[in-house]
Amino acid sequence: MFDRVGDDALSALQTVQDRFREVNGEHPMSEADDAYAREHFTPATPEQLADIAAGRLPLPGYLLSDGTPMVADVSESIESAGGVEHLHDWFLAFWPDDPETAESEWAAFLSGQYVCLAKLNPISIRRKNRMVEQAQSAVDALRADPRDEIAQGALAEAVDGGLAVTGLDEILAPMTGYDRLRFGGPTSRDLWVDAVRAEFHDPQPPALPIRTERLTLRRTTLDDAPAMARAWADPDFARFLLQPPQNTAEVTFATLGRSKPPEGPHRFLALVIEHEGEAVGDVILFFQGAGHTSAEIGWTVHPTAAGKGLATEAARAMLALAFEHYGVRRVVANLDAANDRSAALAERLGMRREVHRLADFWSKGRWTDSYEYALLRSEWEAQQR
Ligand SMILES: CC(C)(COP(=O)(O)OP(=O)(O)OC[C@H]1O[C@@H](n2cnc3c(N)ncnc32)[C@H](O)[C@@H]1OP(=O)(O)O)[C@@H](O)C(=O)NCCC(=O)NCCS
Repeated sequence: MFDRVGDDALSALQTVQDRFREVNGEHPMSEADDAYAREHFTPATPEQLADIAAGRLPLPGYLLSDGTPMVADVSESIESAGGVEHLHDWFLAFWPDDPETAESEWAAFLSGQYVCLAKLNPISIRRKNRMVEQAQSAVDALRADPRDEIAQGALAEAVDGGLAVTGLDEILAPMTGYDRLRFGGPTSRDLWVDAVRAEFHDPQPPALPIRTERLTLRRTTLDDAPAMARAWADPDFARFLLQPPQNTAEVTFATLGRSKPPEGPHRFLALVIEHEGEAVGDVILFFQGAGHTSAEIGWTVHPTAAGKGLATEAARAMLALAFEHYGVRRVVANLDAANDRSAALAERLGMRREVHRLADFWSKGRWTDSYEYALLRSEWEAQQR
């Protein structure tokens, strides 16, 4: 295979460069490509070049535009194998029941083509293969049924990982424009992290406003500031909120920030509750967890509008958005256990008190208990029948 290997380093360098070009073809490396390769790889040493030329170590991941071979760090693998000479047998042992796959993965490893991996080792190769397979079947299932909860869980785990499970976001390296040229298309990360998130995980804004029997739920505008300021200055109103009471200038400044609609995917949706032309509160949804398949809901109604069921009506509309537009499978509400009105609201909505945490929450000068209420999509759907 490496019949031109000579004893000296120059010949090894030439062999490695030639072999790299045979495998990858001739494609230009831009300045950004060079910078990427320098950041994530190191120039091959003469010893490494000799081992690469002899087929004991992987080909470089990149050749810089000046021809410098840049190699991935495989020192941990070499250490674990007990030396370069044992690397092949050590590598194969990761596929004990499938020697054919083991040899073909070794060939891919040696070819330097696994530049998609943030860490080049057989564990990452196995994880990547398993997670891409898991993601592919989840994507197929979700294209057939976007509400398939098993596929949602499998895809979230494949992309974002879970407890002691590494997802593709961590497994896959950023890669470069050069990679798109040599591989003739999108990188693994483009496909299995960015495109999957864009299609299935990034919340997209609903059509607004939402109208209910008595309410309009819409984005904040600067005109809402005076009504909000009146409520937010009231210590009774703010008592169970995370923030302290705020004055008019503070509320007006915050309103400016809130009035700007998010561009593209967003992590939360904040809507003003409008009743008879007045802003009377707000309702908020924060997306949570891997794949944003859960969300937390929050609510306020100004003291002047309380006691009429307006918060209940707004929260129901937000739950409908959460389950039906965003397709989340679980919505939670966290509240100070002393906030009786908020707890009553959660219960009116059919949410279940799942957690009572004792003295876990520091709020406004005291340790207080907190409750977590939850509602599953299946429960929401049952409520609608
Ligand atoms: C929590 C909060 C939103 C609850 O407000 P609320 O006015 O109790 O809730 P609603 O608007 O749904 O109104 C419910 C009340 O209206 C009554 N009501 C009248 N018509 C109704 C209708 N059509 N539907 C439902 N309830 C109706 C209910 O019986 C209930 O009255 P009650 O409390 O005397 O039993 C409000 O207290 C608040 O904003 N607090 C300050 C901010 C805060 O703490 N937010 C929560 C942080 S976790």
